Amino acid sequence: MADKTIYFAGGCFWGVEHFFKGVDGVKEATPGYANGNTENPSYKEVYTDTTGHAETVRVRYNPERVSLYTLLKLFFTVTNPLTLNRQGHDEGTRYRSGVFYDNPEDRPVIEQVFKETEAKLGTEIVTELEPLKCFYPAEEYHQDYLDKNPEGYCHLPLKTFRYLRLWQDVKLFLGDETDVVARMANISALIAGRMHFFWTGFYRVKGEQLVLGPFQGPEACFRIGFGKGVCGTAWKEARTVVVPDVEEFPGHIACSSQSKSEIVVPVFDGDKQIVAVLDIDSDEYATFDGTDAVWLEMISALTLRTA
Ligand code: SME
Repeated sequence: MADKTIYFAGGCFWGVEHFFKGVDGVKEATPGYANGNTENPSYKEVYTDTTGHAETVRVRYNPERVSLYTLLKLFFTVTNPLTLNRQGHDEGTRYRSGVFYDNPEDRPVIEQVFKETEAKLGTEIVTELEPLKCFYPAEEYHQDYLDKNPEGYCHLPLKTFRYLRLWQDVKLFLGDETDVVARMANISALIAGRMHFFWTGFYRVKGEQLVLGPFQGPEACFRIGFGKGVCGTAWKEARTVVVPDVEEFPGHIACSSQSKSEIVVPVFDGDKQIVAVLDIDSDEYATFDGTDAVWLEMISALTLRTA
């Protein structure tokens, strides 16, 4: 099958290029200027914010190795679709977010992911969905900018790049293994091995309780009731719960006094029922934020074999 191309505007193109270059199946990521009103713009011209161009990354990929659907899901892990003309600290129409397609057949799947994103956020997103009007590759010094300047500015948190590698490795390593407990065991091991959290593991839904599943770390309590502790709350409210300081969380269940902050991510099956939760504890305060949430949700979605 021939290579395909999709265009992502997700704020400063240095970080977006670096991110997509790390995605398996992506052959080329090229930063440039798209969908503006001038020809062959320079960075300086685009910087005036009067050209209508958005900093955009052209992603050429092998559709047999990575689907457009997956690329779009990844795009939304690194893009805030709720901030108009702003990503991170960067402001202006040149930093608007958008997905621009050069093949009209791609539109339905893009619309589908936009809808899924809105459903998850419970509100409309401002990310543009447009046909590509034009694209001009940026000047040479912008190409591979973060490889040339490893200390250079990047609006994406560093852990984004570690999580991308982890998510890809979990996917690859688990392959088509069908046993869910076995998958949970290796997901725990891979997360713990890479991220060195204090406790990483699963609790499985059994009737009215969560029951301890595969984990890495010190011994932990066997059973947690519906709505109890952080785990039971994530189950009851069907959402990821981030706790910067466990002592501040009413009803927190302390399996270890060393645990200081925590994140719990539900594991959904194909019918959107919660079958387990992924629970991670840190021995430091405020370890987890929205970046961890988004990536651990991507990883938790790999718990059940879906393909
Ligand atoms: N702290 C969790 C209990 C499980 S341990 O963190 C492993 C909670 O409050 O649900």
